[in-house]
Amino acid sequence: MNTISFHQRSMLIADSVMSNLLQVAKKAAQSKATVLVCGESGTGKELFARYIHEMSPRHEQSFVTINCAAIPEGLMEAELFGFEKGAFTGAWMQRIGKFEKAKEGTLLLDEVTEMPIALQAKLLRVIQEGEIDRLGGKDPIAINTRLIATSNRDPLQLVKEGCFREDLFYRLNVLRIDCPPLRERPEAIKNFAQYFLNQNCEKYQKGKSGLSRSVLELLENYHWPGNIRELSNVIERAVLLSDQVEIQPEAVIPLLNPEVSSGNRIEETGSLASIEQKHIEETLKVTNGNKTEAAKRLGISVRTLRNKVRQYHAVS
Ligand SMILES: Nc1ncnc2c1ncn2[C@@H]1O[C@H](COP(=O)(O)OP(=O)(O)OP(=O)(O)O)[C@@H](O)[C@H]1O
Ligand SMILES: [Mg+2]
Repeated sequence: MNTISFHQRSMLIADSVMSNLLQVAKKAAQSKATVLVCGESGTGKELFARYIHEMSPRHEQSFVTINCAAIPEGLMEAELFGFEKGAFTGAWMQRIGKFEKAKEGTLLLDEVTEMPIALQAKLLRVIQEGEIDRLGGKDPIAINTRLIATSNRDPLQLVKEGCFREDLFYRLNVLRIDCPPLRERPEAIKNFAQYFLNQNCEKYQKGKSGLSRSVLELLENYHWPGNIRELSNVIERAVLLSDQVEIQPEAVIPLLNPEVSSGNRIEETGSLASIEQKHIEETLKVTNGNKTEAAKRLGISVRTLRNKVRQYHAVS
């Protein structure tokens, strides 16, 4: 198995899909063209973005990230473009924004499709003009930032729905990397599983001989909603929990999301709320009603879980 290392990270070239994408990324690194990296959560979008930066002539300059889904709408403009002292109440001193921090380097616009529509217009202007305006600033500042954007939703669909500007989409989509979901890549699943197994055996000093054939089958048939990130977590926990030298299904099954492990998920139709309710109920069943454990598996707080369960009881 081939791995590449850069900036304290290592990347497994898990299948031919991955080596093809890597060729695109390598070429992208040589230019300043904007790259749009799309794919479900956990498919390696950020790793690709980092790879492009590290392989580019800008690798000694900053790699700056802004998560457009995590920053409150009202703060995002200041985060991106910075502000002058006195630009608004509370602007006690000047602050430079992410664009300027990444002036000669790379700016990763993570989950760009979540950017508020008004700001999308400003971003488009920055891309076209190559300059930014700090909030409250008098003169535009020229920037030479390389942009990489990611999206875990289909940007063209969002354009159709009127949530994402078409002109911005085309500006960002100069070069494109589509990271496919893990469930469509059986060879990658096998290779990633072995890779994460070796990594974790070394990390925790555990001498495991491998994954049993039935574990591999289980992994290949699982839906992997959290993609590579989820697989890495499952293997790490299996290494820690398994008492046997060869990892057996018993160590892995409890770590997989019950509804999707059946492989019939798509047949389930109904409202999002009813799917969520069913999923919560099944998780609670598997954890014997233990809400703390169920919340952990669902990736939500115990309080949110309690509220949701209360809501379902109120309507049923
Ligand atoms: N080819 C790979 N080799 C090794 N590890 C990988 C590879 N691709 C992804 N990973 C690991 O999987 C995890 C998820 O990757 P990453 O954060 O790049 O995904 P993402 O698509 O940006 O996810 P999100 O949409 O949730 O932000 C990280 O821990 C990353 O190191
Ligand atoms: Mg990411």
